[in-house]
Amino acid sequence: MSNPYVPMPAKIESIVIENEARDIKTFNLSLMNDTDKERFSFLPGQFAELSLLGIGECPIGIASSPTEGGCLLFTVKRAGFVTTQLHRAEVGDTIGIRGPFGNTYPLDLMEGKNVLIVGGGFAFTTLRATAKYILEGNNRNRFKDLTIVYGARNPGELIYKHELWEWEKAKDLKIYITVDKGDKGWKRREGFVPTVLKEIAPNSDSAVALVCGPPVMIKFTLPVLLEFGFAPETIFLSLEMRMKCGIGKCGRCNIGHKYVCKDGPVFSYAQLNELPQEY
Ligand SMILES: Cc1cc2nc3c(=O)[nH]c(=O)nc-3n(C[C@H](O)[C@H](O)[C@H](O)COP(=O)(O)OP(=O)(O)OC[C@H]3O[C@@H](n4cnc5c(N)ncnc54)[C@H](O)[C@@H]3O)c2cc1C
Ligand code: FES
Repeated sequence: MSNPYVPMPAKIESIVIENEARDIKTFNLSLMNDTDKERFSFLPGQFAELSLLGIGECPIGIASSPTEGGCLLFTVKRAGFVTTQLHRAEVGDTIGIRGPFGNTYPLDLMEGKNVLIVGGGFAFTTLRATAKYILEGNNRNRFKDLTIVYGARNPGELIYKHELWEWEKAKDLKIYITVDKGDKGWKRREGFVPTVLKEIAPNSDSAVALVCGPPVMIKFTLPVLLEFGFAPETIFLSLEMRMKCGIGKCGRCNIGHKYVCKDGPVFSYAQLNELPQEY
């Protein structure tokens, strides 16, 4: 077994600037060694530690689905030391990657059910991976209706725009895109994600909700889901705690007796209700 602390080399194949503020970039990486490629088996919801030699590393959710054939996407917001250096990296550069780590969205539980995805801002990354996974030809009939509610502060902050516009036209999902405040050219919805969610009145029968976004969005989204009859056991959230090892060894990311890196990052709302409110 390979040493989980040793990063695997990965080449940056392409970089997409996602937002107008230019502080969110999607990196498409390819693992450089064949053995690493074989070993790196993941599912939506998991994350990896991205690293730069002599700089440091940070946990980032895997934004692509394993069904996308070899492409490994990470969408990174420039937040501090490591992510700023990562944003300076260029196509062709080599960076380090450890993982995949953590658990996945509950794909087994979701099977045969309606799936509601609620996302806000750049936290949409692993939700995008989940949507891509569900929409893949062989997987699509394993799940019932797919509904996505996705919002950002303004049109310039929506990520994966081209895909969002394609999804609007697609027949095998329903997507509601909203911004807190539109600009001159904005013809779509305006309004906060929880308000839009209330308007569309999601059906909780045989349904699972996956939620990821800024804390304020989550705070106001959870009561709406409960109001429409989603049980806490059917609502899943992905947590972002500070991390070091990523593999449940250093104790940096614990909430009560759970390690977010190993037991999470995906937890049901029912599980979170049992934990100290540190997140
Ligand atoms: C499981 C997981 C998945 C993640 N997925 C993504 C992703 O897909 N895209 C992405 O851009 N970011 C993601 N993050 C957050 C990302 O790891 C942090 O932004 C990154 O570690 C910041 O590192 P830095 O060295 O650039 O910033 P630092 O210099 O360490 O910190 C800069 C500032 O950000 C704060 N900060 C740093 N990390 C966190 C955190 N985890 N939570 C709250 N505040 C923090 C610090 O307190 C400081 O104010 C994820 C985190 C986790 C745990
Ligand atoms: S990051 Fe080390 S235990 Fe979770």
